[in-house]
Amino acid sequence: MTAHTPDRSGRPAPTASAGGSPWSRPRRIHVHDVAMRDGLQIEPVFVPTERKVALINALGRTGVSKIEATSFTSPKAIPALRDAEELMQSIERAPGVKYVCLVPNLRGAERAMQCQVDEINLVMSASETHNLANLRMTREQSFRALSQIIDAAANQVDVNISISTAFGCPMEGIVDPEAVLRLGDRFAERGGVRGITICDTTGMANPAQVEALCAGLAERWPGLELTLHFHNTRGMGLANVIAGLSVGIDRYDSSLAGLGGCPYAPGATGNICTEDLVHMLDSMGMDTGTDLDRLVACAWQMAEMVGREVPGQVMKAGRWNKRFPPPPDLEQTRERALIRELEAGISQ
Ligand code: COA
Ligand code: ZN
Repeated sequence: MTAHTPDRSGRPAPTASAGGSPWSRPRRIHVHDVAMRDGLQIEPVFVPTERKVALINALGRTGVSKIEATSFTSPKAIPALRDAEELMQSIERAPGVKYVCLVPNLRGAERAMQCQVDEINLVMSASETHNLANLRMTREQSFRALSQIIDAAANQVDVNISISTAFGCPMEGIVDPEAVLRLGDRFAERGGVRGITICDTTGMANPAQVEALCAGLAERWPGLELTLHFHNTRGMGLANVIAGLSVGIDRYDSSLAGLGGCPYAPGATGNICTEDLVHMLDSMGMDTGTDLDRLVACAWQMAEMVGREVPGQVMKAGRWNKRFPPPPDLEQTRERALIRELEAGISQ
């Protein structure tokens, strides 16, 4: 899209500025929906497999780049996703969409590979306490375990590493950004990894922190796909996306209807909401390759599935350019306003 061309919603695109504003050029942003995994893992009700499959199939037609469909974890730890095999065998795979599954250990990786997933998302935390709570391993043990999985996955399936609690830990508090970078360096140096996702597991990140941690990441880890994963726990989620965009990150995890949360992180709530993210990016003139109306329909399908009020906002409010009819007595109101003006003029 060139400057001054209206975007799909009718608003003029931003004008190119001499200062090279990050908003002044056409830009493709990749949306990875994680609702089926990050969203459903914390829901108390078990959603029947066929309903999950129907939603994943619909989501495959929205244009998102990746769908994190489930996780291959212990069914005792995450009962909501205990149907991972059946689910992966039942879904339709849309061309161009990558179907990703979260995996915590070698057993999970083997299960995922048997189901021909396109990518396994391996997870470990930047914080020792959260790593122990979530994965029952020290970080060193996790690094060794993930290294083993990366070797087992070589030439079979793409591997992404998600570094949780990278911007703060609900139990330890501040997480040293240098420690996050060094952990990423270790994966980047050992190879076998297609991408790294930096995760704000419990919505502690602020935009200044995102900018500070992520500026220069593309140069530090060349050739790796970089993704940011934010939760909107404290209302900073989309502001953090803006900070990520301003330092060149083009991939974002988000969740339909704003569901989400880690069961092993106290106070965790929803991811940034997919439709709200797409709506913001669309209205800024960026290209997400997605269809917002279809995403909103999927978000409602998700809300029905979980049977509760969901955090998504655009699904309720509509697009920014939605128009409402004026009040029916607008003409009388105008007349009264003009009469008052005339009367005021006479009495002066
Ligand atoms: N798939 C299926 N079952 C698994 C499994 C996997 N990937 N990993 C472990 N199990 C089973 C074991 O068979 C064992 O079952 P049993 O009690 O019937 O014998 C049980 O889980 C415990 O196994 P163990 O090896 O002792 O693992 P653990 O208790 O140390 O648990 C995790 C480790 C990480 C596998 C487990 O805690 C887990 O799946 N956590 C979920 C993490 C997660 O998804 N968090 C949210 C996303 S960030
Ligand atoms: Zn998350």
